[in-house]
Amino acid sequence: MKGLVLSGGKGTRLYPITYTSAKQLVPVANKPVLFRVIEAIIEAGITDIGVVVGDTAEEIQAAVGDGSRWGVRITYIPQEAPLGLAHAVKISQHFLGDERFVMFLGDNVIEGGIVSLVRQFQDSDYNCQIVLTRVPHPEQYGVAELQDGRIVRLVEKPRQPKSNLALVGIYMFDHHVFEAVNAITPSWRGELEITDAIQYLVDKGYKVYPYIHEGWWIDTGAPGDMLDANRLVLDEITPRIEGYVDRDSHVSGKVTIQKGAEIINSVIRGPAIIGQETRIVNSYIGPFTSIYHHVLIEGSEIEHSIVLEYSRIVDIDQRIEDSLIGRNVEITRSPLKPKAHKMTLGDNSKLGIVCNG
Ligand code: TTP
Repeated sequence: MKGLVLSGGKGTRLYPITYTSAKQLVPVANKPVLFRVIEAIIEAGITDIGVVVGDTAEEIQAAVGDGSRWGVRITYIPQEAPLGLAHAVKISQHFLGDERFVMFLGDNVIEGGIVSLVRQFQDSDYNCQIVLTRVPHPEQYGVAELQDGRIVRLVEKPRQPKSNLALVGIYMFDHHVFEAVNAITPSWRGELEITDAIQYLVDKGYKVYPYIHEGWWIDTGAPGDMLDANRLVLDEITPRIEGYVDRDSHVSGKVTIQKGAEIINSVIRGPAIIGQETRIVNSYIGPFTSIYHHVLIEGSEIEHSIVLEYSRIVDIDQRIEDSLIGRNVEITRSPLKPKAHKMTLGDNSKLGIVCNG
């Protein structure tokens, strides 16, 4: 089997973090979501992986490389514009050939990986198998209707959903999908929809089956989703202390301190991860926080947040919570006016400041 990862798109919902960089490279528990996707595919025994890329191709190729770091082969497939998930399949036909494949959206995180579902598809004679999960508000998703264990209908954001089974961003196909993606036409939003392609397969009598995923699944499209994914993944990782923790610091719970990190006179309460060459000085890092590499946090408190590389947060006396802080961001206090916060934030940044009366 082959793997196909979709890593094009615009990522508008994560602006401004994704103005200048790919959303799939935003880290969750200090590892880019795209790396988690690729590693899940590799874990399922697949070593030939295509990555569909768009405007951020250069950045993605620089980060991911040719796959040799994982001992696999990665082929890049440029998509001229985000013309839909089925369009991404269409342009990948040359790479996929006649092999069965698993397609995984490069910004999704799923609990427990994909080993069992890939195995089930490999052992079956299904033409297509779609990963579904039960959701409380199906009207916000693509929803599948089942009959006798088969998928009979897919509806995008139905007003009156006939089931609570939503499409997760993982799909498995055989070569018949090319017949479908070549037959369908763009939707009202101008995209070749994967739901239309799957509906085509159903209507032509191909075997389209569900795989019901029981664990959590997160589409990391928006900042709140990134924080949710971060919380869930941090809770799963095995803690490791590879950096330096001085004797005045207190580390408790599931905490990973990566190589070259320094914790000086600080409290770290897990689940949390502190990245390479990051310094935490006279600070409090609370649960569900990921601080990426080369960050400085000094004289500040932060909790339930993600801080990206090369940022500096210094002398902020009010606790920072529920925040996604980008790369190279500076949040400091002006030495002249002790009450003033000094910040360097990207375009469209969102900042909530607490007023003390
Ligand atoms: P989406 O989240 O549907 O789209 P987007 O990335 O443009 O995000 P936003 O809504 O914030 O603007 O895409 C899901 C995944 O599939 C994501 O990793 C991008 C990728 N994708 C492609 O590679 N090609 C495409 O044509 C589309 C629509 C998405």
